Amino acid sequence: MPVRDPAAFETEALEAIRRAVPSPGKAVIAASGGIDSTVAAVLVQRALGERAQALFVDTGLLREGEAQRTAQLLGEAGVHFELLSRAERFFQALRGVTDPEAKRKAVGTTFIRIFEEEAARAGADHLVQGTIAPDWIESGGNLRDTIKTHHNVGGLPRDLRLKLVEPLRDLYKDEVRALARHLKVPEADRQPFPGPGLAVRVVGEVTPDRAALARLACAAVEEEVDRAVAQGVLPRPWQYFATLLPVRTVGVEGDVRTYGEAVSVRVVDSRDAMTATAMPLPPEVARRLAERITRASSGRIIRVLLDLTDKPPATIEWE
Ligand code: XMP
Repeated sequence: MPVRDPAAFETEALEAIRRAVPSPGKAVIAASGGIDSTVAAVLVQRALGERAQALFVDTGLLREGEAQRTAQLLGEAGVHFELLSRAERFFQALRGVTDPEAKRKAVGTTFIRIFEEEAARAGADHLVQGTIAPDWIESGGNLRDTIKTHHNVGGLPRDLRLKLVEPLRDLYKDEVRALARHLKVPEADRQPFPGPGLAVRVVGEVTPDRAALARLACAAVEEEVDRAVAQGVLPRPWQYFATLLPVRTVGVEGDVRTYGEAVSVRVVDSRDAMTATAMPLPPEVARRLAERITRASSGRIIRVLLDLTDKPPATIEWE
C-alpha cells in the first residue's frame, strides 16, 4: 500500500508486524541510522515494544562523524539500540575483494552473521530490515536483471537462519520520507547513504587506509555542498559524495613530481533513485571543492574529477 495516508499505513504496518512476529517471538532490527531503517525500527518497536532490539553496527565503513550522528538520531527518533563495533570483521571480509558484486555480498554476509549471533544471544528469530522497493528491484531475480546486489537483498546468504520482516518493502524513498515526517523521525530529508557504506565508494580493494581517504573526500564534498546550499547558490541535491578511484596519477608540487590518488565527485538530483540527473556545480564551488579535498588529504589525493553522467546510463554509486 503506498503512503498517500501515512496514518493508515502506520496502523496497517503495526498489525502486519504483530502478525509476522507473534508473541512471545522476538526480533532484532538492523538499524543503520539511514532514513529507511530508522522508520522501520520506529514502526517495529511501536508494534513489538520490548520484543524488538535495534542493533547499529559500526562497520568501519561509515562517514565522518556518522557513529555519533546515528546514535543521536536514533535516540531522537525514540529507538532503543545497541552499538556493535565490528570494523575489523568487515575489513577482514573485504580483504583482496575487488569485484563490486563480491564486495556487496561480503558486506551483506558479514552483517547477517553478526545479526544472527546477536539474535541467538537475545533469543530472537526474526530480522527487521529497512528494505525499500528500489533495493529489491535493482537486486534482480526472476524476470529482472541484477543491476546491483543491494547488501540487504541479494547480499543475504542463502543459509539465512532468521525470518525477514521488511515493513517498507513496497515503498519508494519519497514515500518513506512522508512516513518519517508523520512518525516524527528527525532529518527525514537527509541524503541517502548506501548500506555497504564506503565499501562501494572505494573502487578496488577496500583497506582501512583507502576507506579513510574516501571518508575525508566525502566529508569535504558534504561540507562544501551544504555550504553552497546554505548560501543559495545551489539547490539541495538528492545525493553528493566522492569515490576513490583505483588509478594513480602524476602531479607536481613545487618542482617535485608526485604520484597520487584520484577521486570522482558526484552530485545528483533524483526523486526515487531509479533515475538521476547529474547536477552542475557553480565553478567557484567546484574549484573550492578540489582545493579542499587535496588539502584535506595532505596531498595524497592530487586529482579531483567531476562525474557528469545521469542514471541511466550510470548508476548513482560507482559500484
Ligand atoms: P544506485 O547506485 O543503484 O543507487 O543508482 C540507488 C540508491 O541506493 C543507494 N544504494 C544502496 N542502498 N544498500 C542500500 O541501502 C545498497 O546496497 C545500496 N547500493 C546503492 C545509493 O546510494 C542510491 O541512493
